[in-house]
Amino acid sequence: PRVALLIGGVSGEHSISCLTAAGVLRNIDLERFDVLVIGITRSGHWVLVPAEPEALEGGHAEVPADAPGVTLVKDGANEVRLIGTNGTHADFGVVDVVLPLLHGPFGEDGTVQGMFEMLGVRYVGSGVLASAAGMDKHMTKVVLQQAGLPVGNYVAVTPAAWQRDREGVLAQCAALASPLFVKPARAGSSLGITKVDDVAELAAAIQAAHEHDPKVIVEEGVTAREIEVAVLAGRDGRPRVAPVGEVVMDLAPDEFYDWETKYFSHDAVSMQAPAQLPEDVAQRIADYAAATFEALECEGLARVDFFYTDSGEILVNEINTMPGMTPYSMYPYMWQQAGLSYRELVTELIELALA
Ligand code: DAL
Ligand code: MG
Repeated sequence: PRVALLIGGVSGEHSISCLTAAGVLRNIDLERFDVLVIGITRSGHWVLVPAEPEALEGGHAEVPADAPGVTLVKDGANEVRLIGTNGTHADFGVVDVVLPLLHGPFGEDGTVQGMFEMLGVRYVGSGVLASAAGMDKHMTKVVLQQAGLPVGNYVAVTPAAWQRDREGVLAQCAALASPLFVKPARAGSSLGITKVDDVAELAAAIQAAHEHDPKVIVEEGVTAREIEVAVLAGRDGRPRVAPVGEVVMDLAPDEFYDWETKYFSHDAVSMQAPAQLPEDVAQRIADYAAATFEALECEGLARVDFFYTDSGEILVNEINTMPGMTPYSMYPYMWQQAGLSYRELVTELIELALA
C-alpha cells in the first residue's frame, strides 16, 4: 500500500512533528509500504518532502518552505491522489492511507481528520470527535468525569466568561489549591503553560495562555509522579495497553515537565518502563488508560498521561491522540519495553487503519 506521512504543520509543535516523522521514516517497513512524505510548512502550505530522516532531524527540524506544492484530491475513480499545485499538475499517484504525524492544533484536533473524511481516504488514528475532544483539555475532563474517571480540580476559562466576569473567574480559580497551572485549552508539549504560586499573577498567566488559545484551563497543581500509558487499538475491539511507564525527573523545585525539559533536558529526565509501582496501582492506571481511550472513542493509538499523587491518588491528566515518537518520547519506548519494536508498531498502526 501507498502510505502518505503528513508532517510539520502550523502548530507550535511543528519541529516535534518533524522529529516524530524522522523516527517513523527510520522504522517504516519499506518492503511492505511505499512511502510519500507530505509536509505542511509553518505557514500552512502543503509540499512534497524527500523521505529522508536526516534532513528532518537536522537544523531546525522544519519542513522546507521551498519544496514543490502538492495537494490531495479525489479523482474520477474515487481514488485519492497526490497532485502538484502551482500549475505543474504533476501526478504523484494514489494514496491508500495517510499517517498524520501532526501534533497540536490543525493536526491532532480533528480539523485535518475532517478533511480526510471529506476525501474518503483512510487514515491512522482517531477520528474527528475523539481528536477534537482529546486536544481540548477542558472537553477531555468533561467526558472523563461523565465516564466516572478521576480528573483533577480545574476551572475552564472560556473567552466569553473572561470578557464578562474577569473578577468572578479569578475568584473561582483562587478557590483551587495552589500552585495553579494555567494552560491553553488546546496546545501540546506544554506550550504556553505557566505555574502560578501567587494568585496575584493569575491574570497575567491567563493572558499568556491566551496567546495560544482563546480558551484557557486553570488546574490545581499536585505533587505527583508523572505516569504515562501507551494504548493501541485492539483487533478484538479491546484496547491494548503497554505496561505503564514513568517520566522520572530530577528537577529543581520550581521546575516542571515543560517544553524545555521534554526535549532539551536529557540529563534531568529519563524514561522508565515498566514504572516501579505497586502492582495494584499499575493495574488501576492501565485500566483507567483503556477506559479513557474508550470514553473518548479513540481509534488507532493514544498516550494517556496520569498523575500519581504523593497521597496515593490517581488522576488522568490528559490524552495525546497523536503522541510524539521522537527519540525522547515515551510512546514508542513503552511499546519497545513491552516487546513491540518501533517497526512492528508502525506496521500495526497502518494495518489497523487499512483493516
Ligand atoms: N504533544 C507531544 C508531541 C506528546 O504528547 O508527545
Ligand atoms: Mg503530557
